[in-house]
Amino acid sequence: MTQVNSEIIRAENIVMKFGALTALRGVSLDLKRGEILGILGDNGAGKSTLMKIITGFQAPTEGQLFIDGQAVQLRSVDHARSLGIECVYQDLALANGLSIFHNMFLNREIVYPGPFRLLNNRAMRRRTQELLDEIGVHVPSVDLPVERLSGGQRQAIAVARAVNSNARVLLLDEPLAAMGAREAGLIIDLILRLKAKGSLSIIMIMHNYAQTLEIADRIMLMQRGAVTYENHAAATSVPELMEIVRREYRSMRNPASA
Ligand SMILES: Nc1ncnc2c1ncn2[C@@H]1O[C@H](COP(=O)(O)OP(=O)(O)O)[C@@H](O)[C@H]1O
Ligand SMILES: [Mg+2]
Repeated sequence: MTQVNSEIIRAENIVMKFGALTALRGVSLDLKRGEILGILGDNGAGKSTLMKIITGFQAPTEGQLFIDGQAVQLRSVDHARSLGIECVYQDLALANGLSIFHNMFLNREIVYPGPFRLLNNRAMRRRTQELLDEIGVHVPSVDLPVERLSGGQRQAIAVARAVNSNARVLLLDEPLAAMGAREAGLIIDLILRLKAKGSLSIIMIMHNYAQTLEIADRIMLMQRGAVTYENHAAATSVPELMEIVRREYRSMRNPASA
C-alpha cells in the first residue's frame, strides 16, 4: 500500500496561449496513484486544453509536467501513451463500422505469426469477451458493430480499450455528456469498479456536480483558465459548488456588486 499516495502526475503553472487568447493562466494539478480527480467548469474554462497537454496532444506555452516525479516534455500522444497515459476523447475515436472486438484491438491487432500479419480474430474475440467480463461490461455479442451500441455502451468500450492498453492514467473528457441517467450510471459503475481493482488513476472532466461528487475523490473547479476551487469530494457539496459558480456569474454580470 506504500504506492497509494504517491504522485503519478503533477502539472505546475501551466500557461497555454493561442495567439492573443490565454486559455490557461498558470494551472497546477496533481494526481495520485489510484485517485479519481473530477474537473468541473463552464464551457471555455480550459478543461479540454489542460487534458490535451497532459495527453501530449499539445505542448504548453509555459509550465512543467512531471510524471512519476520526473520532469517530462511530452512530444506526442504516443509518447504520453508509452508512459501509461491514455485519453478517451469526447468524440469517441471508435471505428463505427467495425466490430466491438476489432475496435478493442484497433492498431494493436493480434496477428498470426508469419510474414502476412493475418488477423487472429479468434484470439481477439476471446480476449475481448474476457476483458469485458472482467470489468463487468455486458454486450449482446463482441461481433456487433460499434454503431449498433448505445452511447453508454460505446463509451464503456472506449474505456475498456484504454484499460486493455495497460494505461495507468485515464483521461476522460466529459464521458457522460449527452447520456441519460441510466446510461451515465453504467459508466459511473464501470469507473468505480476499475478504481476498486487497483492502481488506475483517472482525471475526468464532468458536467454534473452530483455525479462528480459520487465518483471523484477530489474535485477541481476551473473558471476562465484558472483553478478557483479544489477540495476532497467528501469535504464539499453540490450547494457549495453552486454557490461558487453563482458568485462568479454575478460578478461577471455586474462587476460593481461583486
Ligand atoms: N486550438 C485552439 N486554437 C485556438 N483557441 C483554442 C484552441 N483550443 C481551445 N481554444 C480556446 O481556449 C479556450 C478554452 O477551451 P477548452 O479548453 O476547449 O475549454 P473547455 O474544455 O473548458 O470548454 C476557449 O476559449 C477555446 O476557444
Ligand atoms: Mg471541453
